[in-house]
Amino acid sequence: MNQGPTLPSGLPNPDPEAQVHSNEVAAFLLRELAGYPDGFMPFEHWMDRALYAPGLGYYAAGNTKFGSTLPTGDFTTAPELTPLFGATLARQCAPVLQAAHSTTVLEFGAGSGALAAALIPALRQLGIEPNYQILEVSADLRQRQQERLAGLNAQIEWLNDWPARIWGCVIANEVLDAMPATLFQWDSNGHLLELGVRAAGNAAAPAFEWATRPASDELQHLVSQRMPALLGYQSEINLCAEAWIRQLGHHLEQGLALLIDYGFPQREYYHPQRAEGTLMCHFRHHAHAQPLVFPGIQDITTHVDFTAMADAALESGLDVRGYTSQARFLLNAGLPALMSDPSFASDPQALSAVQKLVSEAEMGELFKVLALGRGVDIPLAGFMRGDRRDSL
Ligand SMILES: C[S@@+](CC[C@H](N)C(=O)[O-])C[C@H]1O[C@@H](n2cnc3c(N)ncnc32)[C@H](O)[C@@H]1O
Repeated sequence: MNQGPTLPSGLPNPDPEAQVHSNEVAAFLLRELAGYPDGFMPFEHWMDRALYAPGLGYYAAGNTKFGSTLPTGDFTTAPELTPLFGATLARQCAPVLQAAHSTTVLEFGAGSGALAAALIPALRQLGIEPNYQILEVSADLRQRQQERLAGLNAQIEWLNDWPARIWGCVIANEVLDAMPATLFQWDSNGHLLELGVRAAGNAAAPAFEWATRPASDELQHLVSQRMPALLGYQSEINLCAEAWIRQLGHHLEQGLALLIDYGFPQREYYHPQRAEGTLMCHFRHHAHAQPLVFPGIQDITTHVDFTAMADAALESGLDVRGYTSQARFLLNAGLPALMSDPSFASDPQALSAVQKLVSEAEMGELFKVLALGRGVDIPLAGFMRGDRRDSL
């Protein structure tokens, strides 16, 4: 990582209120840093605090700006674009619920509640009154979800932890990418370094800069299994996301998890040409790669290594039931039939949203759907054509 703490060019200035909040988060991070040996905070911890520190982090303090509206939005997700996304997922969930003799849908990281708001009515139309559960780490977003979904008159339960056993469908849209990642770099001698953050300012003017330390034996071992030492190459490994998949393997008794996110198989993830990794920040629809600026008021993400997710699933006894692009999944699972409904077919906004969901140049190809299951052996419509499990 070569960027210093300076602002990437072209970024809009935060409004005064957001700037005040970011200053508070920076002061908090500075205090946290003081507690770290040698003043080195692993990047994974920085990302965790900057996104999830209660009352301060980007997802935890009312700063999450879902939606396409400029100048206020930071990024848009598929369920924010159109209810057709949730309605299509419902078509894949319904037969799984029937096969598992369950009505439970457990959504992780439900954001603004947009997916639940589409999925619940769509399941009802398919004859299923869902027992909807949401596990959301952000108290602020949980409250927003409760407000948004109150009018549905549905059975919705917000969980504080994983249920002991899950029967039914698990859904996580753009959740794995928001889990804190470890950053590493191969130096010019072929040694692996871990990247972290250290203080560069003082309490009156907190500032931060990149720091490195030799990677632990464990990190060295894990990274070396996945890629060769490429001098100067920087990337990420998401051990939190892998641990989350193992949790899923532990708790899923019978059913299917649909994990939707942007990412690639490992060969592409660690492609020699992707020498700066996939770390990305979003602020008012500007994407950049400088997570040390605007703490608490910008999103920080990394792409998903779907091979690592599938390996973690297999290790924990789950079946990898399908892996394909978002476009292929949606087209297979019934989006065209839903689009033929006159209320959508004549709505230019719906058409434009669908175009974004499936276009290769937009979300259709970069986003993938990974299906992990146990004890549900029915064919899955979403993966009938174009299943790419052999690329993992
Ligand atoms: C990028 S947002 C996506 C929101 C929503 N799924 C959507 O597609 O619009 C990431 C969401 O995941 C949540 N999150 C992150 N890590 C989580 C975890 N381990 N368990 C549950 N929710 C998590 C965040 O608080 C946030 O709601």
